Amino acid sequence: MDRSTQTDAHPPVSGAEKRRYVFSMFAALAPDYDRWNRIISLGLDQMWRRRAIRPLVKCRHVCDLGTGTGDMVRALFSSSDFTGSVWAVDPTRSLWARPSQADLHSHPRCGFALGEGEHLPLGDGVCDGIMSGFVMRNFYNLDRALSESSRVVAPGGMAVFLEMGHPRNAIWRFLFNLYFQRLAPALAGLFSSQPKAYRYLPESLARFPAQADVRRRFLSNGWRTAEYKEYLGGAIIVYRATK
Ligand SMILES: C[S@@+](CC[C@H](N)C(=O)[O-])C[C@H]1O[C@@H](n2cnc3c(N)ncnc32)[C@H](O)[C@@H]1O
Repeated sequence: MDRSTQTDAHPPVSGAEKRRYVFSMFAALAPDYDRWNRIISLGLDQMWRRRAIRPLVKCRHVCDLGTGTGDMVRALFSSSDFTGSVWAVDPTRSLWARPSQADLHSHPRCGFALGEGEHLPLGDGVCDGIMSGFVMRNFYNLDRALSESSRVVAPGGMAVFLEMGHPRNAIWRFLFNLYFQRLAPALAGLFSSQPKAYRYLPESLARFPAQADVRRRFLSNGWRTAEYKEYLGGAIIVYRATK
């Protein structure tokens, strides 16, 4: 792991420094990543993914941006209505390459490409759907990633991005922040070999724009419509945009 990830310094906010920091952090997290997800979401993360992918089941070619260990892809393939193919894209091969991902490595309708949201390794308009699960706050340039997403989607296609959000109710926001910023990293630290890296995750949410702002950024980066649905009082957001 990059030495900066191991220090108590605040993680970088954007640009090349954030790119380096985030890529090396996820590479180092690979052995713990799935366990961390289940712990921090109290086992609810798979339910959010299954819910998020529903609008995409009729698509023919879907890009899963920031695929990680492939849970969004699995959620999509778990729908019998989905008969299309998936391009799984991630800057970190180590999450995808783990033996536990063998089900997807051998899947006839799934391919992996090394790449990042800000420079997608796909041609213009090759997809009719693009999705991502818990990736947006990791982008080192959110506007660039939204406009790249729109470039690879054909007119009429759609984006479904699942991300954490900022609850509006002050009491719920306080409780949620207490959990996500204090308890969850402490809990994960007990089980993880990289406890300091978990500091990044709550900080990345604290710095991520509010959902209404993210919606506006879809609209100013090539998407014709954009809306979002809040779940769990605004702690979980599903953004949906059409091109
Ligand atoms: C929190 S994980 C989510 C993985 C997976 N989508 C899921 O639902 O579990 C974030 C993923 O985003 C990837 N990532 C980080 N920065 C990225 C970028 N700039 N472009 C695309 N993916 C990125 C990481 O490598 C990691 O796999």
